[in-house]
Amino acid sequence: MAASKLNFNFLLLSFLASLLIPEISLCDHSRQPKRHVAMFIFGDSIFDAGNDNYINLSVSYRANYWPYGETFFHFPTGRFTNGRLIVDFIATNIVQPFVPPYLQPGINFTNGVNFASGGAGVFPKTDPKVISLGMQLSNFKNVANSMEEQLGDKEANKRLSQAVYATCVGGNDYSYFVHNYPNATQLEQDEFVKNLVGNLTDFVKELYNLGARKFAILNVGPRGCLPAIRQSKELRGDECEEGSLEMIKKHNSAASKAIKELESKLSGFKYSILDFYTILYDMIKHPKAYGFKESRYSCCGHGMYNAAHCGIEPYTLCKNPSEYLFFDGWHPTEHGYRILADLFWNGKPSIAAPYNLRQLFDLESTPSFYQKIMKFPMMNNFP
Ligand SMILES: *[C@@H]1O[C@H](CO)[C@@H](O)[C@H](O)[C@H]1NC(C)=O
Ligand SMILES: *[C@@H]1O[C@H](CO)[C@@H](O)[C@H](O)[C@H]1NC(C)=O
Ligand SMILES: *[C@@H]1O[C@H](CO)[C@@H](O)[C@H](O)[C@H]1NC(C)=O
Ligand SMILES: *[C@@H]1O[C@H](CO)[C@@H](O)[C@H](O)[C@H]1NC(C)=O
Repeated sequence: MAASKLNFNFLLLSFLASLLIPEISLCDHSRQPKRHVAMFIFGDSIFDAGNDNYINLSVSYRANYWPYGETFFHFPTGRFTNGRLIVDFIATNIVQPFVPPYLQPGINFTNGVNFASGGAGVFPKTDPKVISLGMQLSNFKNVANSMEEQLGDKEANKRLSQAVYATCVGGNDYSYFVHNYPNATQLEQDEFVKNLVGNLTDFVKELYNLGARKFAILNVGPRGCLPAIRQSKELRGDECEEGSLEMIKKHNSAASKAIKELESKLSGFKYSILDFYTILYDMIKHPKAYGFKESRYSCCGHGMYNAAHCGIEPYTLCKNPSEYLFFDGWHPTEHGYRILADLFWNGKPSIAAPYNLRQLFDLESTPSFYQKIMKFPMMNNFP
């Protein structure tokens, strides 16, 4: 028993090691890595560290009740998992405390700000109740303006150009589309993908124009294979809801291409894309290779795959969340996020491309030509 466990762990370690590249110094000794930089975070519930707590939303949008947060924080923070998120692990690697949510009162901007909002899409109509990507961008402008006021233009611009801009968005837009246009033609689907990628690319360009240089992007995950979707469609065995998967695959390849084109057009633009789709899909299909016992049932919830309404009676909670890939029907456990964060940080180019995050953080940031941040009135989109 003990021997087989040892053997299993050894196999697991060598499997994960095969996806990682060894930590070697990219720089010569005259150039120390400059990792203590700010991180600005955008997107949906994969990255939301509590913004939705401050919006008047129904309980199903929130994760600010037990047992969310049970494993690491021991209280619910608004993160949609039992502990830390991918962005929390990244923040730990760059010697920071966690990056605070924008709507939390009295936050200090020094280490960056998290603008992400559970349920958010690129398009505001995906969910008008939460903070869409465009509103997140205008909130960022508020922060950039405050930084200029507090630190002066030169220092603020330096920090903004050295910072890393992390984004994970798009999944909710595809849920919206598949739900509202179940009979869309191929042409209509392709049009939607094209517009979504165009709007996402505009968002990245606009951040660049405000001084951003380094981007860390998660592509869109395999939504049709999540326990919540499989449960709502009553899918059996290995089945996934294929409609959204096909669109998401097109999206991911078009988005990679568009971002790569930006790199060739915009001086100093650097990025890393984590192939979240491929890894999560592989984790779902081969849980044991990543050290999980269970990838079809969620740890917390009820129903066919225990995938609905985590934390709302009646629900069941698993004993050991680290044996599960999914905490609730939509979101990985902390253990799942830790593996994803490791792969983002250290992964091979087939997983995190063209750089992994460690390389991205260590790249010398080209000083951006100073661009005056457009003055926007200080506004709070949400009370
Ligand atoms: C919150 O939303 C509910 C339902 O939409 C509404 O009845 C309530 O008045 C709102 N509360 C505040 C403080 O806006
Ligand atoms: C924010 O934090 C930094 C470093 O952690 C500190 O130097 C600075 O004084 C803080 N700013 C405010 C307004 O508290
Ligand atoms: C889609 O097509 C099915 C059958 O072809 C039909 O029953 C359904 O009403 C259609 N849905 C919409 C939203 O048009
Ligand atoms: C953004 O999306 C809208 C549709 O919602 C579309 O009309 C517009 O062309 C898109 N922008 C780009 C740059 O693709």
